[in-house]
Amino acid sequence: MEYGFLFHIKETAIIKANLKEKFAEIAKAASGQIKRVKSLIEARKSLLAIDLGNYAIKIALLSPTKTGFSLRSWGYLPLESKPEESSEEKKLATLNALRAFLIQNGIKNKYAAASVSGNSMIVRYVKFPLLTKSELSATIATEAEPFIPFDVNDVQFGFHILGEAVEEGQKKMETVLVAAKKEIISSRVEILQGAGLTPSIIDVDSFALENLFTQFDSSAAEPGGTLYLNIGHSVTNLSIIDKGNTRVVRDIFTAGQTFTRAIMKALNCDLIKAESLKRSHALLFDSDQKDVAIAEGRKEDVAISDALMGVLKDLTIEVHRSVDFFLSQGSDRVISRIVLMGGSAALKNLDRYLSLEFKTPVSVLNPLTAIENSQSIPEEMAPAFAVAIGLALRKPNDWI
Ligand SMILES: Nc1ncnc2c1ncn2[C@@H]1O[C@H](COP(=O)(O)OP(=O)(O)OP(=O)(O)O)[C@@H](O)[C@H]1O
Ligand SMILES: [Mg+2]
Repeated sequence: MEYGFLFHIKETAIIKANLKEKFAEIAKAASGQIKRVKSLIEARKSLLAIDLGNYAIKIALLSPTKTGFSLRSWGYLPLESKPEESSEEKKLATLNALRAFLIQNGIKNKYAAASVSGNSMIVRYVKFPLLTKSELSATIATEAEPFIPFDVNDVQFGFHILGEAVEEGQKKMETVLVAAKKEIISSRVEILQGAGLTPSIIDVDSFALENLFTQFDSSAAEPGGTLYLNIGHSVTNLSIIDKGNTRVVRDIFTAGQTFTRAIMKALNCDLIKAESLKRSHALLFDSDQKDVAIAEGRKEDVAISDALMGVLKDLTIEVHRSVDFFLSQGSDRVISRIVLMGGSAALKNLDRYLSLEFKTPVSVLNPLTAIENSQSIPEEMAPAFAVAIGLALRKPNDWI
């Protein structure tokens, strides 16, 4: 299932109205002007997708081809890690990196999409009384209040009606509800605008990913549930999709940064050193591997693996919770495969560990396999582009 579900940026409606008027005006004018109409339409269609991650900004610009999509432009902009950085400093660093990229690549006046995840927002599957879409829009704050942990005045709501359901003899409608703190939405908007872009969509990481899976991951339609884990830097986005329906969406705050910090603590080293050790060392999770390392006197390998395994066990407990919840919802439910993505999917041996732990095959998603002209993105970076490609694949109908 694909949600055409997003936070509308008010300004978008204004832009749309302006464009309509402009089109009408220009269409009346001489035929030489047609080119200009086309370029306006083109500007609207080609959406610059910007995944504002905590570790790196990922950018993708796609254009439709006869057979699919082609990559027109991309960026991977790592942000310098500073242990004690305020959110304002981080925002400025993000903005500067984005500005520099746009200048270097001669990208101007683009409509852009970004997304949010983390603890400033929440996604809930809830049953509301049967209402029309506009009735629900008008009363969303009151209806949603019992389901969200934030003050309703501080959040922006979005919802998508999934279908009708009966609860305690009453007709209800199943709805995906998103509440995001206004400050996180405005922070995203400010970064895009500050870089000279026009914010068109503020999506949710998990929904952008779902958009990618439903279009590009053929396993999403196969029998049995798929557990997707986008393991980034500060957050792991978990989704379980079963027969095309999303059953669980959850953010877990154990991810790449947690692994790095565990190495810093265990080895008493700085962030840069810990980052490099994390990339060069594998998880040693069975006693054989560990015994060999100990016998060979590879003390550092063992210490790093122990630090990583401690974090991985915490992450696994949380993943089990979501899987158990999913399995408890029906006797026919199974997890038939796990699909990993995000920068931390590259952690050595992670796939093998998860495969043994969940007794199911594990693969790493390359979101670029179906995109033409995407060879310029190094293969090891590809899994981190999942959110950006999911955003870039948004269609105009998804938000209009
Ligand atoms: N080869 C590797 N081995 C282990 N970890 C890696 C490797 N390459 C990247 N990472 C980790 O991946 C993480 C970055 O992943 P990603 O780009 O998906 O995060 P992000 O989108 O910036 O963060 P978030 O979504 O949490 O805000 C970092 O923690 C980084 O250390
Ligand atoms: Mg991310």
